[in-house]
Amino acid sequence: MEQAVKDGVDVLSLSLGGAPKPFYNDNVAIASFGAVQNGVFVSCSAGNSGPASSSVSNVAPWIMTVAASYTDRGFPTTLFLGNGAKFEGSSLYYGKSIKNLPIVYAGTAGGKKQGANYCINGSLDKKLVKGKIVVCDRGLNGRAEKGQIVKSARGAGMILVNGDRNGGEEMLADPHVLPATSLGASAGKELMNYIASSKAPTASIVFRGTTYGANAPVMAAFSSRGPSSIGREVIKPDITAPGVNILAAWPPVTAPTQLKTDKRRVLFNIISGTSMSCPHISGIAALLKSTHQNWSPAAIKSAMMTSAYDLDNTANPIADLGSSSSVSATAFAFGSGHVDPERASDPGLVYDVSTEDYLNYLCSLDYNATQKSFECPEGSDFRPGDLNYPSFAVNFKRGGGGRRTVTNVGTDVCSYRVKVEEPVGVSVVVEPEVLEFGRLGEKLGYSVGFVAAAGGGDSVPAFGSVVWSAGKYSVRSPIAVTWEQQ
Ligand SMILES: *[C@@H]1O[C@H](CO)[C@@H](O)[C@H](O)[C@H]1NC(C)=O
Ligand SMILES: *[C@@H]1O[C@H](CO)[C@@H](O)[C@H](O)[C@H]1NC(C)=O
Repeated sequence: MEQAVKDGVDVLSLSLGGAPKPFYNDNVAIASFGAVQNGVFVSCSAGNSGPASSSVSNVAPWIMTVAASYTDRGFPTTLFLGNGAKFEGSSLYYGKSIKNLPIVYAGTAGGKKQGANYCINGSLDKKLVKGKIVVCDRGLNGRAEKGQIVKSARGAGMILVNGDRNGGEEMLADPHVLPATSLGASAGKELMNYIASSKAPTASIVFRGTTYGANAPVMAAFSSRGPSSIGREVIKPDITAPGVNILAAWPPVTAPTQLKTDKRRVLFNIISGTSMSCPHISGIAALLKSTHQNWSPAAIKSAMMTSAYDLDNTANPIADLGSSSSVSATAFAFGSGHVDPERASDPGLVYDVSTEDYLNYLCSLDYNATQKSFECPEGSDFRPGDLNYPSFAVNFKRGGGGRRTVTNVGTDVCSYRVKVEEPVGVSVVVEPEVLEFGRLGEKLGYSVGFVAAAGGGDSVPAFGSVVWSAGKYSVRSPIAVTWEQQ
């Protein structure tokens, strides 16, 4: 990363990361601090460890942490069972449909071999599998690898079933080597009931190719979630971008399934992950940098975050395939929302952050000697919540509130009025409620106070927003409240 900064790059796109770590122990956080200090924008994958709470990584506030969501494009299949039931799945297999073939659960088709239900190599009995559609459980080995193992055992097709904790209702499309489809966990249960209750269960799979117009965006179940386990005063992830079934160039030296046995070669492939969503944000950052050459990495980040949207293409709240309790996604899944490149190029206001601000933030977290040339100011009243971040994470054990400064990058003379959507159980006070700008580049400050209502909230996180509006501009910051140090 240091070499890239020396080479003069404007953007670093880091589709990598591990478990969340304290900043001083996190190489990506340390190296990206240096990059941001040198004016380089850094976007990182949030991780694919969702939907578990606090699974998000790459959480330093100078990093743009990117979650993953679905686009409106799908690769649907229809699975018909012999009893007339019908379910939608997903697959990149593009050959002929398979009709009225016997189906068998891999857990029974492997005799008593361990892991047979996952279709691990060597576990399937050819006699029990030959000519049948084999149902394999998700997990343990690769999704496309299961298909190869079924094919090698002379199976005619495969149904790859998610578990409640293993993919849930996720619809990943894989370039299977035989007629195969994925299936969500709830449909999977009905399928298993049918197999258990029928003497001669059969199924057909129809491959429907590429379709458009699905409800989108929808949060991917695998996308890592907040609240951040490090530095709770910042909502992480920051934003979401397309990360499911993404079409991109692919090296022809490796098969689309990455299996040695797969001899197919392609120039493009479709894969999923926050490794796919992060580069979308990196590309948009490059676009913003080229139109606003004097913007800092924090300004670019703010522009994308405050203009992000939280409604889908049917004007309903963005849904979450990883949430069993509610269908709507929260800021702990998508941060400020889904990126909107057009609006990000003209955000009205930005929340800028200097290197010194980040250092003051680290000092407020009781870091010391972060940099030889910087001494933490004695007796400073800077609190972690004062970092000039474009979103608000409030933890009531540490008290809530903060100061913010916005820079006018919209029109010379304008008057912004605040609108607050209060999280359940919290009252929010913003002062002043109107910001009058007289020129471009002008900076004005405001304060936010968060007060728990009598009785406080319950233990579930609560969400709201602070929105500054003037004419066509609407500058939105989400609020996420947690009630205790978790
Ligand atoms: C399964 O194991 C056999 C024997 O070790 C090997 O030749 C084959 O490539 C394996 N199949 C896959 C899909 O990994
Ligand atoms: C910095 O903090 C560490 C850990 O709390 C402590 O051991 C060390 O002495 C501190 N260094 C300075 C220069 O204060």
